[in-house]
Amino acid sequence: MGTIVLKGVTKTYPSTARDASDVTAVDNVDFAISDCDIVCLVGPSGCGKSTVLNMIAGFEQPTSGQITVGSTAVSGAGPDRMVVFQSPALFGWMTVYENVVFGPKKQGVPRSRYEADAQRFIDAVGLTEFASHYPYQLSGGMRQRVQIARALVNRPEVLLMDEPFGALDFQTRLLMQELLLKVWSEFRPTIMFITHDVDEAIFLGDRVYVMSRRPGRLKEQVDVPFPKPRSMSVLTDPAFIALKERVLQSIKDELGETA
Ligand SMILES: Nc1ncnc2c1ncn2[C@@H]1O[C@H](COP(=O)(O)OP(=O)(O)OP(=O)(O)O)[C@@H](O)[C@H]1O
Ligand SMILES: [Mg+2]
Repeated sequence: MGTIVLKGVTKTYPSTARDASDVTAVDNVDFAISDCDIVCLVGPSGCGKSTVLNMIAGFEQPTSGQITVGSTAVSGAGPDRMVVFQSPALFGWMTVYENVVFGPKKQGVPRSRYEADAQRFIDAVGLTEFASHYPYQLSGGMRQRVQIARALVNRPEVLLMDEPFGALDFQTRLLMQELLLKVWSEFRPTIMFITHDVDEAIFLGDRVYVMSRRPGRLKEQVDVPFPKPRSMSVLTDPAFIALKERVLQSIKDELGETA
């Protein structure tokens, strides 16, 4: 089960300089994400979004509070939670196929299974013809698709995505959003997706979480009522635009207070 539950989660980073004070990045955050949901996390820069994601991934430990994924308390990284970052962390000397099978191979998954799986996920992200290409031979969008295939091949319950399409051009980004929804409908991982793009958040999310400025608290949860699969035509729906205004205003209020 890919449920994600945070209870009273606070994260304080110790100061790095002698005269600097500790930084509380995230303050007493509670939420519960249901299995198979897509939740998008938005909020001002530096409000603690990546910190929340990194704690769920198990890269960082909360200073206090508890994180549970499924029925297990998170105490470190694990193959049940896969992370996709903005800049693809691919091995440059390995082909697309080799990059995708790297994880399962290391986990000791039998060759017969990881071969079939790799092919399936490479196909799912539309890279069938590129399996023997190297990362330098791919566009930015294609590299992100490899990252998604490489994450999914581990059959994670949870996919954690930190501004994964942030560096892509507008049109590639739209195509990637549609691709992600297609892949989601096939494999149904629970997804936490961080973005600064409010259109992207509402297009992808079943719910949008707005965080306050640092120290980040969960300020608002906005339900997105449009059924999935969604097409780009939803972007111009008056209900979509109303939701967008609400989320933008919520973020803007936080920026205003900082100023
Ligand atoms: N490893 C770390 N050590 C010390 N401080 C950190 C660390 N990671 C993040 N911080 C601090 O915690 C705060 C929140 O950072 P975080 O990266 O979580 O924000 P964010 O919402 O993801 O920002 P952005 O939208 O710019 O990516 C910032 O003040 C940052 O400097
Ligand atoms: Mg971040």
